Amino acid sequence: MAFKLDRVDEVFPTPLLRFEVADADRLNRNLMKEIAARQKAEGGMNRSNRKGWHSERDLFDRKEPAHSELAQMLLRMIAQATKHYAPNTDFTGMEILADGWINVNQRGAYNSPHDHVGSFWSGVYYVQQPEDVEGHSGTIEFLSPHKALQGRGLIEAPITADKMTVRPKAGMAILFPCTLVHWVHPNDSETDRVTIAFNAHFRRRQPVGPGQAIRSRKR
Ligand SMILES: [Fe+2]
Repeated sequence: MAFKLDRVDEVFPTPLLRFEVADADRLNRNLMKEIAARQKAEGGMNRSNRKGWHSERDLFDRKEPAHSELAQMLLRMIAQATKHYAPNTDFTGMEILADGWINVNQRGAYNSPHDHVGSFWSGVYYVQQPEDVEGHSGTIEFLSPHKALQGRGLIEAPITADKMTVRPKAGMAILFPCTLVHWVHPNDSETDRVTIAFNAHFRRRQPVGPGQAIRSRKR
């Protein structure tokens, strides 16, 4: 009996996008200066990070030039990614609500498994990522939202994977749905691992002045 494949739906996709920032060396040098100043001036917060420094979640309100430059760029990435996955959406009546914070992970520091449920997109920008390491040091690992399929190891494909590991580089930004569980392996280097994490979601634009198709504020 003959048959043909009639239709395939990729249901509940989990995109993981990677962006490469042009001229990232200049941006990162300036960010490192601004972050060093903030570490001196501010205390820190303990969230999913262990042995690290965690800033306030105010990236999108900061006035420092490099903070602000990065924040504006991240908003453009978020808009681009959303348009890619939802091309028919009319974004003109919407605004992006975003928050972001800095993680400085010294040697031995890591982030335990967590998600960012309550937003839409989550992401990370890599300001300084030690490269003098082996193994999993400093890598970010994403855990499958699906229960494992029997036969893992026999059938090797994205459909059977229970995790995905990414070794980031400075100047890279990654973006993924906020529900995706992830964690960061301990930093084995003497060099700090410096990252900026962020969340973003959309809402109907509140009555504001003209010309503000997209604006952000701290969540
Ligand atoms: Fe995270």
